[in-house]
This record gives sequence, C-alpha cells and structure tokens, in this order.
Amino acid sequence: MANHIVCFHFFHPLFLFFPLIASLTVQAFTGTYGINYGRIANNIPSPDEVVPLLRAAKIKNVRIYDADHSVLEAFSGTGLEIVVGLTNGQLQDMSANADHALNWVKDNVQSFLPGTHIVGIAVGNEVLGGDDLSLWGDLLGAVKNIYNATKKLHLDDRIEISTANSFAVFANSYPPSSCKFKDNVRQYMKPLLEFFSQIGSPFCLNAYPFLAYISDPDQIDINYALFKPTKGIYDPEFRLHYDNMLDAQIDAAYAALEDAGFHKMEVIVTETGWASDGDQNEVGANVSNARTYNYNLRKRLAKKKGTPHRPKNVVKAYIFAIFNENSKPGPTSERNFGLYKADGSISYDIGFHGLNAGDSSHLSLKNIINPGLSRSYVMVFFLYALILLNFWC
Ligand SMILES: *[C@@H]1O[C@H](CO)[C@@H](O)[C@H](O)[C@H]1NC(C)=O
Ligand SMILES: *[C@@H]1O[C@H](CO)[C@@H](O)[C@H](O)[C@H]1NC(C)=O
Repeated sequence: MANHIVCFHFFHPLFLFFPLIASLTVQAFTGTYGINYGRIANNIPSPDEVVPLLRAAKIKNVRIYDADHSVLEAFSGTGLEIVVGLTNGQLQDMSANADHALNWVKDNVQSFLPGTHIVGIAVGNEVLGGDDLSLWGDLLGAVKNIYNATKKLHLDDRIEISTANSFAVFANSYPPSSCKFKDNVRQYMKPLLEFFSQIGSPFCLNAYPFLAYISDPDQIDINYALFKPTKGIYDPEFRLHYDNMLDAQIDAAYAALEDAGFHKMEVIVTETGWASDGDQNEVGANVSNARTYNYNLRKRLAKKKGTPHRPKNVVKAYIFAIFNENSKPGPTSERNFGLYKADGSISYDIGFHGLNAGDSSHLSLKNIINPGLSRSYVMVFFLYALILLNFWC
C-alpha cells in the first residue's frame, strides 16, 4: 500500500476513531462477502483443503452449521473468522438446561480460542416460521442460555449470538415497505428481537431471489432477480426505486423490524445464492443464471453500499455455499448451490480458482478488492499507535 494512501485514510476523522468505537461492540461479520460452508456431502474436500481455497478467493468470513471439530482445528491459525452453529435438534436441550449450554460453549467454542477465530454462534437455523412448531418456543431460551454461558466465560465481548431467519417469518414482502412479521410468528419474534437488541446482535436474513423467482416465474422478471438492467420496481410508500431484488428483500426485512418497533437493528444476509441445476419445475436453475447471480452479487457487495431504504447500512452477505452438497434432501437445486463442485473445481467462473492445478479463472474483477476488514483494521490500529507516538508523517 502506497504511503500517501495510508496517510489519506488515516487522517480521515472517522478512521481515527474507528478502532476505539469498534472495540466496544461485538461484530462477527467484518467484511461484506462471506460464505457458508455446508458439509452435507460424502465427496467434498477436507477442511484442510478448504483453507487454501478460501485464501485464494480472499474470503475471510465463514459460517458452518454445527461446530465440527475437524473444521475448527483446520481453521486454527488461519485468521479465518468463523460463526459456528447449534443445530435445531439441540435447541430443546439448550433451552431446558443452562449447564448443557455452558458445557457446549466450553467444548465447542472456548477450547478452540484464540487459535481459531470463532466470532459468533448461530443458535438454530430458520426456526421461526418453520415446520417444527415445537421449536419456536425453545429458541429464546436456548439463545439466552448460550448468551449467559458466553458471559460466564467472559466471551460475550467477542462472540456474537444470532439466529438466521427465512422469509417464512414474513406475512408479505412486496412492496418492501409493506413487509410485516406473520401474526403467529410475532409473539415469538418480538421478545427474541428485544433480547438481540439488548446484546447488540443483528437480524440475520436468508434471502433468496432465486426462491422468489422460481415460485412465480411468470410474474417476476428474472433479470431483476439477477441484478441485470431492468426498469426495476417502485415502492410508493417508501418512494424508492429498486433495481434488484436482493436490495428489496433486505429493505422488506427492515420494514418488518420497524413495524415491530426495532428501528436500529441491522440486517445482515446470512445466506444467499443461486442453484446451477434444478428439477424441471425449477425454472431458472442453471449454470448461466447461477453464474450471473453470483458474479453480479460479488460486484454488488464489493461496492460496500447500503440499500435504498438504509443507505448507511452497508450490505453484508454470506454466499450459499462453498460446495455442491450431494447428500442434501429435497429438490435437485438443494444439491447444486456450490460455487465449487465436490472435486474442488469451480462450478462456473466468477473470478475464483478451483483446487485443481489446471483450473484457472479468466475473469478479473478489477474493482473487487476484498481485503478482509480485520487485516486493514489491525493495520489502522498499528498506525494509530504510531501517530500517538508521533512517528507518522
Ligand atoms: C443469566 O444470568 C443472569 C445473571 O448472571 C441471571 O440473572 C439470569 O437468570 C440468567 N438467565 C438465564 C436464562 O439463565
Ligand atoms: C438458463 O435459463 C435461462 C432462462 O432463465 C435460459 O434463457 C438460458 O438459456 C438457460 N441457460 C442454459 C445454459 O441452460
């Protein structure tokens, strides 16, 4: 990095204070482009091979759906920032037994720190609005017990507690301003959000323009879902124009939060992606659309811009997913969300390289730099110290 650039950044007033502010709150997602590492497959590369794959792609923020120890060990010393998960099957136990929650955090989080940068715990996945209603009532208790466990272990200032929501929590989401939580979800969602706002956690959204499109391909312009030029949509209540569906989905979540009384909570996208293959009725699930979505999404996130309704909240998303997962049940699309195939080669070219030597990428995204904020953050911090010592400029 050239010296004059460093000086310029550095003397910006925000940058001077940034390290001080950032140290006061937990922030699990330090970049804007993260990825989900799903492992429901019997043929994908080992966690040790995933590390160089992510390094080459300059992806630093990763989510897994459990706390698999082989992954946590492989990620040790790599600087990768990982959010671990408690599965839905564990929620009842974690909610009923505070001591089990404490032991879980000890065994699966504390024992891997500080070598493995575990930065968050996702408690359950797509619980509210989901099919298993018995879990809805367990979620908040599990979240509280896990949070209390991190507090007891003095990890609450470095581990963010959250849970990912699907669009099944919303009654409607079009236009974005009209979005509200479903009536039957609201009674569970409100106390959960109250707790999350107390501990500074974001609202985690799994947002799939792909799913919206395949549910109504006759009405929805696929180009709008794929970030391609269209006339977009106009939200008369917000008086805002949307040129892509992902931004509209995120603002729909903001509208639902506002309707429920949470005006300050940040929305982050914990899953988004596009399947490169699907069943006959999954119109649009093919390689060229998946490539277009993921290529344009990467460009969108690299802009580090907010949405029309929340221009100051930079959009952050974890892509779903690293690999195609051959053992996932459900429609064919479910097994074909990977940016990489099971053999480690790329599924399509969005500028990343596969594991295999012959696999090269031809695209370059000149405007995409994804340095991983933490690295620059350490540097800023270091330089800040230098300034204080009067060594700089
Ligand atoms: C969490 O801990 C606090 C004090 O440490 C306690 O008052 C509270 O009851 C605990 N909550 C749960 C759900 O165990
Ligand atoms: C993918 O689907 C689109 C329609 O969504 C179609 O126009 C295109 O030809 C398909 N591409 C391939 C490679 O099948």
